[in-house]
Amino acid sequence: MHDKCDVVVLLSGTGGNLQAMIDSFQVDPGPVRIRAVISNRADAFGLQRARNAGIETRALDHTAYEGREAFDAALIEHIDAFKPKLVVLAGFMRILSASFVRHYHGRLLNIHPSLLPRYKGLHTHQRVLEAGDAEHGCSVHFVTEELDGGPLVVQATVSVELGDSPTTLAQRVHTQEHQIYPLAIRWFAEGRLSLGKQGALLDGQLLGPNGHLIPAI
Ligand code: GAR
Repeated sequence: MHDKCDVVVLLSGTGGNLQAMIDSFQVDPGPVRIRAVISNRADAFGLQRARNAGIETRALDHTAYEGREAFDAALIEHIDAFKPKLVVLAGFMRILSASFVRHYHGRLLNIHPSLLPRYKGLHTHQRVLEAGDAEHGCSVHFVTEELDGGPLVVQATVSVELGDSPTTLAQRVHTQEHQIYPLAIRWFAEGRLSLGKQGALLDGQLLGPNGHLIPAI
């Protein structure tokens, strides 16, 4: 038996990843409990998904704060009120200050729609197509001060097909995201995943530079 692992989810948009977590942990909760969902946008559909699942929500409008540090400080207060062991970014479209990232060192995960370290930043599907890459995918990583640069936990790849558009490619990447994020969160909650000095550790073993790799479907 494990102690409960309370998780706070931060999002800005539709919350497809949140829904995947809700569904996965409903079927088999293990030690995970999604304690709250917080958004910087009051109209984010992800908040509605949370409410539908009976999860507490908060909306914190970043435009109401004077600068990044002030917003992040308020965000920390709201998150910490729920005493989470883990904070997960699920389409939280804000750059976080160094003090925020340091505050959650080793217990802050992000998902990114590319095979990091390739295609940090935005418009990843479009950029993959323009580059003519044969494969694409998604990555879960610990968040450090380097944007989209922290130690990788798990990656899933998808093959790029002839005739793919950014939309069709995004759909297949999302399907993979919805597998690997609940998996990584479960590992963390079970005490199997941690951040060591040299990178992410799974069951005490240092993961390779790509994290745990799930091959193309
Ligand atoms: C996901 O594709 C996630 O990887 C991406 O935003 C989307 C959110 O979708 N995150 C980033 O680009 C972070 N840099 P969702 O709201 O349906 O979960």
